[in-house]
Amino acid sequence: MALILAALSLLALFSIAWLTIDGLRAIGRRRCAEAASKPRRLLVAKRREVAGELLCLELVDPQGKPLPGFRAGQHLLLTAPAGKHGKAIQRAYSLAAWAARPAHYELGIKREAQGTMTQWLWQNLQVGDGIDVSRAQGDFTIKPGRGPLVLIAGGIGITPLRAMLQAALDSGRPISLFHAARSAEQLLYCDEFIALAGRYAHFSYQPYLSRRADDLSGKRSRLNAGHIVDAITRPTTADFYLCASNSMMADLRHGLRARGIAEARIHHEAFGVGEGAGQNGLTLAVDRAGTTKTLVTAGEPTVLAALEANDVTVSAECRAGSCGQCVAELNSGEVDWLVQPEFAVGPRQFLPCVCTARGDLSLSLK
Ligand code: FES
Repeated sequence: MALILAALSLLALFSIAWLTIDGLRAIGRRRCAEAASKPRRLLVAKRREVAGELLCLELVDPQGKPLPGFRAGQHLLLTAPAGKHGKAIQRAYSLAAWAARPAHYELGIKREAQGTMTQWLWQNLQVGDGIDVSRAQGDFTIKPGRGPLVLIAGGIGITPLRAMLQAALDSGRPISLFHAARSAEQLLYCDEFIALAGRYAHFSYQPYLSRRADDLSGKRSRLNAGHIVDAITRPTTADFYLCASNSMMADLRHGLRARGIAEARIHHEAFGVGEGAGQNGLTLAVDRAGTTKTLVTAGEPTVLAALEANDVTVSAECRAGSCGQCVAELNSGEVDWLVQPEFAVGPRQFLPCVCTARGDLSLSLK
């Protein structure tokens, strides 16, 4: 009997110890997740304007510490008092350069006439200033594979693809980069890509211009799926990464599928997730717990940004289609998805953080 009691006591002690360790681990994990989701203040170490179109920023830790690593293609959320009456707003910007152990983060931000945040950044953010920055996030990243990599950018969509190119250059995979822009001035990083194509035999760079220009490095026609498929060997074994406007991506995806490219090989992200993709003057009827609020959009880049600009609180941790926290029911209307979400939604659900309204919407929030 004494032996049984001793064994039971030992078992109870062991269980308590185990539960305590497990509990401490869970608290540790939660603290790590909270720390990772908190914005951190970084300093502008360098600032450069290119052709009045692009603002290149280098952000560093104020104490000079190394920054957390990230996957090429991910973006950061910047928070700044750029809203109405100095209200803090957030926008996503792709990391434009990649390093395994980054000493700084590089962003390439296009100036948008209608972009509240980009205008604020251009006018206010100078070398030595601080800005609140999220951890790197997003799932538009290079998937494992050995086939050719085909990177296709429209305009400012080049920024995440530049980071992907840097990350993949030493992998030995054949890489083709297609960049479509309206004019030679908008072929950002063109000289750098030409130099890389001269140095790496497995990399080719194909710029396309849709307007006539004097610069002969850009081809004078609109980029289409036929140009892309004809220019690469074994296209059905390639992985395609597209970052462009919604309309350009819709055309290219349709064209690639029509030429036998499997949907699973086409990965895409609209650069509109960052800035300037939303329309003005659309009506959003927002229902929560039986109360409806009606608001009007003002060109916000996502439905979430429109809700927040109108003081509708939505829990939204990742803001990149991964966590599912912001999930909403679509009662009527249609949305465009700016990225392929990691979080699987139900038939009439959508994620306001990565969607724009195509027209007036009626939606329900948790
Ligand atoms: S905030 Fe995470 S999915 Fe929208």
